[in-house]
Amino acid sequence: MKKDFLKMADLSKEEMFELLDLAAKLKYETKNGIEHHILKGQSLGMIFQKSSTRTRVSFEVGMYQLGGQALFLSPRDLQIGRGEPLEDTARVLSRYLDGIMIRTFDQEEVEKLAEYSTCPIINGLTDYCHPCQVMADLLTIKEFKGGFEGLKMCYIGDGNNMANSLIVGGLIAGMDVSIGCPDNYQPDKKVLDFTKDYNGKFTMTDDIFAAASGADVLLTDVWASMGQEGEAEERKKVFSGYQINNELMSVANKDAMVLHCLPAHRGEEIAADVFEAHANEIFEEAENRLHAQKAVMVKLMAK
Ligand code: CP
Ligand code: NVA
Repeated sequence: MKKDFLKMADLSKEEMFELLDLAAKLKYETKNGIEHHILKGQSLGMIFQKSSTRTRVSFEVGMYQLGGQALFLSPRDLQIGRGEPLEDTARVLSRYLDGIMIRTFDQEEVEKLAEYSTCPIINGLTDYCHPCQVMADLLTIKEFKGGFEGLKMCYIGDGNNMANSLIVGGLIAGMDVSIGCPDNYQPDKKVLDFTKDYNGKFTMTDDIFAAASGADVLLTDVWASMGQEGEAEERKKVFSGYQINNELMSVANKDAMVLHCLPAHRGEEIAADVFEAHANEIFEEAENRLHAQKAVMVKLMAK
């Protein structure tokens, strides 16, 4: 593995599968009361420039279960908030900490933190991608479907951080990936370039029924992400119709699963009845954040 986990493309297929196997093992042990203090005495710093429920709690609990501790670092309190350069913060923090998880806006900030830190950096969401979430999504798909080969994964909605990571993660895992999104809200160009290596495995259309046809796994995400609150009204108009509902589910495979990274907006990107019908999968996915991230931390941080 590389020193850091900054985006899905940092992983080879072999590394991804190793992480998923380790996550499943750690999950089994946790559920059966078997302690695994693999990161005993280690500290993870967690820098959050945006809100979080799942990421914060799952990293903090995960570090505790691994025998270490996690420190919540708010930019309001750190000197970063008063303009101390990230290059200096990185060099200072990596002398105290064994790993840093960061959630921020610009992917370049995360890349810069990784360049200047001597400890591993984990991306806990940027505007560009959300790799920890997608590791949890893949773990959930593997649990419910038994594997990835021959599956079609379909994402409906904004070509945002989730779309970017799902495309890369889904293709590396071996699935066919289809995207249903409006023309002006397509995934990042770097991600679309990445798909060129996966001839015939990737499709993108503004027709959500074509995208969802024959899908085994359907995913969606909010129409307006964190930081886009000012565009929310305009986005409601653009994305109206880009919803996972029973009509859309009728063109998917009959045993198709539905995932959502959460938080969800019922009546917008997902209909309330579809959400509830698939709550079992969606909340297992939320739980799997814990197990998948523990695997990432063990792989990157274990001495
Ligand atoms: N899915 C996810 O990352 O949730 P939080 O924003 O609550 O961390
Ligand atoms: N696309 C969403 C994901 C939240 C987990 C956002 O960036 O706000």
